[in-house]
Amino acid sequence: MPDRHTFLIKPIGGLIKKYVGDGLGWIDPFAGENSPAEITNDLNPLKPAKFHLHAKEFALQLNGMYNGVLFDPPYSLRQVKECYDAIGVKLFQEDTQRFPQNVKEVIAPKIKPGGYAITFGWNSQGFGQNLGFEMIEVLLVPHGRSHNDTIVTVERRISDLFNHGFGETDAGGALKIQNTGWAFVP
Ligand SMILES: C[S@@+](CC[C@H](N)C(=O)[O-])C[C@H]1O[C@@H](n2cnc3c(N)ncnc32)[C@H](O)[C@@H]1O
Repeated sequence: MPDRHTFLIKPIGGLIKKYVGDGLGWIDPFAGENSPAEITNDLNPLKPAKFHLHAKEFALQLNGMYNGVLFDPPYSLRQVKECYDAIGVKLFQEDTQRFPQNVKEVIAPKIKPGGYAITFGWNSQGFGQNLGFEMIEVLLVPHGRSHNDTIVTVERRISDLFNHGFGETDAGGALKIQNTGWAFVP
């Protein structure tokens, strides 16, 4: 059974420690309860984050350049709806159509070249080449039975290039994976 606190899953906690260190200069737009990032946000006002904004609003009001982003949104529209229902917030139209890509697009240019995007989900899309990132590591975390694996991508910001002609799927990123890892979490 996957832990809803993603960062408490042992191999994921190890990966985060390796890249995030003391968390200084890191941002986390979907912080939940266990984020080591310096600048945290969560729409749910009961979560212990510094800001309680929609992730896109949070990203828009950031005016610095950051060492990295931890990006652990709800993984499906159904999960988005569950989060919103729990706090009595109505689903925005953009959330049903472009979430969480709309949040990545605002955050990407605010990550320093050489900085990191660590993305969690059910696919390995990450931020992708179109947003100026290269894949450097993937961690696959199976949870057993019929549960979806958690897929963690670690990417590094390489450029200011946006929309430079790579395909929508960014499948080319897979060629750049240097390290892959997996761990079984019962
Ligand atoms: C997968 S959980 C993050 C778990 C966290 N990484 C941890 O290990 O505890 C996603 C979080 O995003 C928050 N959330 C959902 N939709 C959001 C939105 N549009 N903007 C900001 N936060 C949102 C939820 O309240 C939830 O705490």
